[in-house]
Amino acid sequence: MDAPLGSASPSAPLFSLRGISHVFPNGNKALSDITLDIHEEECLFITGSNGSGKTLLIRIACGLVEPSCGDVFFHGIPLDRARDVRSSVGMVFQDADSQIVGETVAEDIAFGPKNLRLPKDEIAERVHSALSAMGLTEKRDYPPRRLSGGEKRRLAVAGILAMGCSAIIMDEPFANLDYHGVVQVLDIIKHMKTEEKTIIILTHELEKALAYADRLVILDKGRIRDQGRADETLDRLVPSYGVRDPRKTYTCAADCTWLD
Ligand SMILES: Nc1ncnc2c1ncn2[C@@H]1O[C@H](COP(=O)(O)OP(=O)(O)O)[C@@H](O)[C@H]1O
Ligand SMILES: [Mg+2]
Repeated sequence: MDAPLGSASPSAPLFSLRGISHVFPNGNKALSDITLDIHEEECLFITGSNGSGKTLLIRIACGLVEPSCGDVFFHGIPLDRARDVRSSVGMVFQDADSQIVGETVAEDIAFGPKNLRLPKDEIAERVHSALSAMGLTEKRDYPPRRLSGGEKRRLAVAGILAMGCSAIIMDEPFANLDYHGVVQVLDIIKHMKTEEKTIIILTHELEKALAYADRLVILDKGRIRDQGRADETLDRLVPSYGVRDPRKTYTCAADCTWLD
C-alpha cells in the first residue's frame, strides 16, 4: 500500500499536485483545481493551446511559483520540505539561450556539478559522459551561443545529465527548430527513455513526438480536460481544446495543411 502523502515513500509519485489553482494579481485565473500525479520513469506529455497553463503548472510543481491554492508533494513530501527537487529534476526552458552560463560547452555543462561541490575528477567524468551522451564531444570548446537550436537544447540536457537528475522537463522543446533540430530533440527523448528517466514534455506540437508519450494530459484554460493513454485520449479529444489529432493520415501533398 502507498504511504500517505506527507511521508517519503519509494512508491509515491514523483510529483503529486492536489487542488492547484492560481490567480495572478491582475485577476487572471490561470489554473483551476488541478489534481495530477506524475510517476517515476513515465514519459508524460502535457499539451494544450498557448496560454492553457502548461508552463505555469510545471513551474508550480518545481517550486518556482507558489500556487494561490493547493498542495504539491515530491516523492510524497510537501514541496517546501523536499530538499532534493532542484538536484533531481532538471528543466529545459523554452528559451534555451537563457540557460547558457558557460563560455564553452564543457564549462557550461560543468556549472551544475560544480555547484554540487563535487570533486574535480568526478566533475570531469560527468562532463565527459554528458558530452558523449548528447553527441557534443567535438563541440566541447565551442562557444555555446553559436550552437544551433537543437544543439542548445542538447547542451541544456547534457547539463541536467551531469547533475545526475532522474527527471527532465522540456518546455516546448520543438519551438523554433528546423527539421534537423527536431530530430536532435527526438534523439534526446529516446536516449532519456532508454536511461529510464522521468520525462515531462510540455508541447502543443504533439505530432512531433506522440509515439514516445506514455500518457497525455490535455489542459484547456487552466483545467485538465482529459488524460490517459495517448490513443485513448486522442479518441475522446474535443477539437475545441485547441489540440489537433496528429494521427490524421494524409493521402496527398494537398492534404498536408494545418488549416483544417
Ligand atoms: N505574470 C502574469 N500575469 C498575469 N497572467 C499571466 C502571467 N504569466 C502568465 N499568465 C497567464 O497564465 C496563463 C497560463 O500561461 P502559461 O502557463 O505560460 O501557458 P502555456 O505554457 O500553456 O502557453 C496564460 O493565460 C497567461 O497569459
Ligand atoms: Mg508555455
